[in-house]
Amino acid sequence: MAESRKLRMGMVGGGPGAFIGAVHRVAAELDGRIEMVAGAFSSSPEKSKAAGASYRIDPARAYGSYDEMIAKEKQREDGIDFIVIATPNSTHLPIAKAALEAGIPVMSDKPATATYDEVLELEKVVMKAGLPYGLTHTYAGYALVRDARALCAAGEIGPIRKVVVEYLQGWLSDKLEETGQKQASWRADPKISGPGGCIGDIGTHAFHLLEYITGLDVTALQGTLRSVVEGRRVDDDCTALLKLSNGAQGILLASQIAAGEGNGIRIRVYGEKASLHWQQENPNTLLLRRNTGPDETRHASAGYLSADARAVARLPGGHPEGYFEAFAVLYREFADWLEAWRATKAEAPATLPGIRAAVRGMRFIDRAIESNKTGNWVEF
Ligand code: NAI
Repeated sequence: MAESRKLRMGMVGGGPGAFIGAVHRVAAELDGRIEMVAGAFSSSPEKSKAAGASYRIDPARAYGSYDEMIAKEKQREDGIDFIVIATPNSTHLPIAKAALEAGIPVMSDKPATATYDEVLELEKVVMKAGLPYGLTHTYAGYALVRDARALCAAGEIGPIRKVVVEYLQGWLSDKLEETGQKQASWRADPKISGPGGCIGDIGTHAFHLLEYITGLDVTALQGTLRSVVEGRRVDDDCTALLKLSNGAQGILLASQIAAGEGNGIRIRVYGEKASLHWQQENPNTLLLRRNTGPDETRHASAGYLSADARAVARLPGGHPEGYFEAFAVLYREFADWLEAWRATKAEAPATLPGIRAAVRGMRFIDRAIESNKTGNWVEF
């Protein structure tokens, strides 16, 4: 049975000038199920207080560190129900561990950790704690991504033969990290981002989208990771050939030096009978192209979509939904799960990326780096 109160969320990250924390707050609160009541918004206590004021939360609950937030919130009767991690990659494991070991469920941003070894440690902590852990691979929240996934599962395009997935951005075409730009600075520092640059930052999204839509696992890959901008300490341009668990093959492109590109994540899935085409910069249509028969444009919110897609739409057809709403879908599923888990220890919903996606994403980065070193195919 649904709980009568809102779930209380505490966020780590999302301080002044940060990108994704504010998106998490909006998305979490969109459906009226969750309220952000606390946070350790920055590693600087002053900035955390300032951010707390901007989010209009009780000043006493804008903490100087996540350890302080966990300790103080545990003492309150109205303490937080879960923690959100929206900080740079190298802090994900320590924060998730501190929360889970204190009995607090976690919703984390990607990549799950900075390294593959770290995610294996995280997996053990999640299993031992037995608490909900969700991973915000945003694109899994789009209605038409759910529709594409359902169409693949139902065999509508026939056995999958080929997948082309790309995530192209242009914002790191110059050495932006040298200007002190907040988001570029830590992403270009392997101590904070992890050994993968572009491959970790956006390659993991493309990889997740491919496995999520097709229902197939990547079993081997051959990758090339380059640092095109001179002196950059992490990769900024990646190409990987993939083998998939049903014998199909794929190509994954991820680049942050693709001049002129904004947030170009796009997937094409080719089956024996038909293909599916989706891109997030035009997220409200999915193209289904048949080998023999007319092309079909499927619109978000339409009554003919699969049940999984209809379940996540909020607006009637024709009203565009986008990034916030996709993020909010993941929060809605996390809220459903958290309430069901509290009532009956319910299992994670299959549609919400969690610890398995976390481990596979980090494995993908690790395998791509390994293949780049040797130039060979590597088993997954
Ligand atoms: P950002 O640099 O804009 O913001 C990071 C925030 O974390 C800052 O406010 C910083 O002060 C704070 N922070 C750092 N260490 C902290 C600590 N120990 N305690 C409390 N706060 C701390 O970074 P951005 O772009 O928002 O990325 C954050 C994370 O979100 C990254 O892991 C990134 O990969 C992920 N991300 C995910 C996206 C998605 O589509 N799901 C999109 C963008 C980012």
